[in-house]
Amino acid sequence: MTDPATRIVDTPEWRALKAHFEAIRDLHLRMLFAEQPNRGETMNLEVCDLYFDYSKNRLTPETIDLLVALARRAGVEQLRDAMFAGEKINVTEQRAVLHVALRSETNDEILVDGVNVVPEVHVVLNKMSVFCNRVRSGAWTGYTGKRIRNVVNVGIGGSDLGPRMATTALADFSDRSMTFRFVSNVDGTDFFEATRDLDPEETLFIIASKTFTTLETMTNARTARDWALAKLGDEAAVAKHFVAVSTNAAEVAKFGIDTANMFGFWDWVGGRYSYDSAIGLSLMVAIGPDAFRDMLAGFHAMDEHFKTAPIEANLPMILGLIGIWYNNFFGAETLAVLPYSQYLAHLPAYFQQLEMESNGKSVDREGNRVEWQTGAIVWGQPGTNGQHAYYQLIHQGTKLIPCDFIGFAQPNEVVGDHQDLLTANLLAQPEALAFGKTREEVEAEGVPAHQVAARVFEGNHPTNTIMATKLTPNVLGQLIALYEHKVFTQGAVWNINSFDQWGVELGKKLAQNIVPELSAVDESLPAHDSSTNTLIRRYRRLRSS
Ligand code: F6P
Repeated sequence: MTDPATRIVDTPEWRALKAHFEAIRDLHLRMLFAEQPNRGETMNLEVCDLYFDYSKNRLTPETIDLLVALARRAGVEQLRDAMFAGEKINVTEQRAVLHVALRSETNDEILVDGVNVVPEVHVVLNKMSVFCNRVRSGAWTGYTGKRIRNVVNVGIGGSDLGPRMATTALADFSDRSMTFRFVSNVDGTDFFEATRDLDPEETLFIIASKTFTTLETMTNARTARDWALAKLGDEAAVAKHFVAVSTNAAEVAKFGIDTANMFGFWDWVGGRYSYDSAIGLSLMVAIGPDAFRDMLAGFHAMDEHFKTAPIEANLPMILGLIGIWYNNFFGAETLAVLPYSQYLAHLPAYFQQLEMESNGKSVDREGNRVEWQTGAIVWGQPGTNGQHAYYQLIHQGTKLIPCDFIGFAQPNEVVGDHQDLLTANLLAQPEALAFGKTREEVEAEGVPAHQVAARVFEGNHPTNTIMATKLTPNVLGQLIALYEHKVFTQGAVWNINSFDQWGVELGKKLAQNIVPELSAVDESLPAHDSSTNTLIRRYRRLRSS
């Protein structure tokens, strides 16, 4: 493990990679495949149900060896072991990082401050299962005795993106007689649109907030209570239409939710790592406890792989290291996540929080400013939609954009020949990105001279392709755990704390200061900079015009 005083960029392993980069930076994927025709058969990993092809990357087997050496030098394995052992690796918050405990098996033992947390995890899971079965069967009714048909999750960030992403991803496994909605934005139209066609008598709100103090969630929760009580009348109805998911029982009680209807989790679960905790309650109502547990088993299988596989065969580590190769050596700024599955429509947004909130850091674990690039900008949309929008820039723009393509061999619903068409596109894009089309090839097609340059594809754009048989709860669990551990690997190499998020605090605090200033009746000038002051004055004028 690197001595904290030794910066990763000063290690021989980093320098070796730098020299190697200079030697191979201009190699084209066309050349790499010509020199090593079996790349596609050798540069892949198969873990659980995920097949990972990394042959279309601008690297050689030597690159992988050097990246593996870097990870070893950075102490990725030791930090991983410390995480699994319940050590407080979230150094700024002095907390353990144990989302892996959420999918532990009943006989596992994971100690935090000498206490095995696994039994508590299963107590909550069992409580969730009982509750979800009651809602799904109709045994849990609303205040007027009607069956619950609508579930509205109120949360934001990790208390929204995970359940939202997974409920969409697993829609085909869900109870189709029920409606699931997600309200996150403090923009009142989010709440309005989510509830405008719902009957309060048949609606259950899940207020999901780790802290139970988040402005957006608490505002939406109060609006939800007013909305429900406007029809149901009696305060006693709250107990039948509101449950909470939180670590903060005192605030839950203060809000008026009976803590018997609260599902807990722990400070060692970060928000963006929490949808497999009670934060996934809405998902569990949707797909049922058995499918939820199957998803947890998928997470667990990937955890076990991450925990035990050597770096060179460790899928999350290799995925993370390839990201480092582009981020820190090629200078790529972004990563496109391109799922060829409409069910994974929210996956890019989910990964955005996972990666950018975790690794968007500029000080190291000892508090020194880092002098190397950290987390990439993550973005994307499901294919094939993006192909008709922004892929142009990936193919022919001036920027290097590594892409992760994700697809499935079998559709959840067979509709004509759509799956083959979808998959043909999933395979064609990485091929086109890697190999492009040369001037000679374009000319040979008889393209008019004035178009030739514009129709050349330089290629050499790197991609990973992840393929599984089918999008099931188990496979979704594997996929999410893969990216969680990928993020972990990168944070470990960069020596940053991937588990705090102080960067979200300042804006929150300033917003609190501005709230009363927006509605001030006097002409007093707010004490901000001239730009913010002018905007506040304009808003004041416009809001009452
Ligand atoms: O503001 C960022 C953040 O703290 C995220 O890390 C978190 O997922 C989200 O807000 C929601 O927090 P909570 O679950 O406490 O409402």
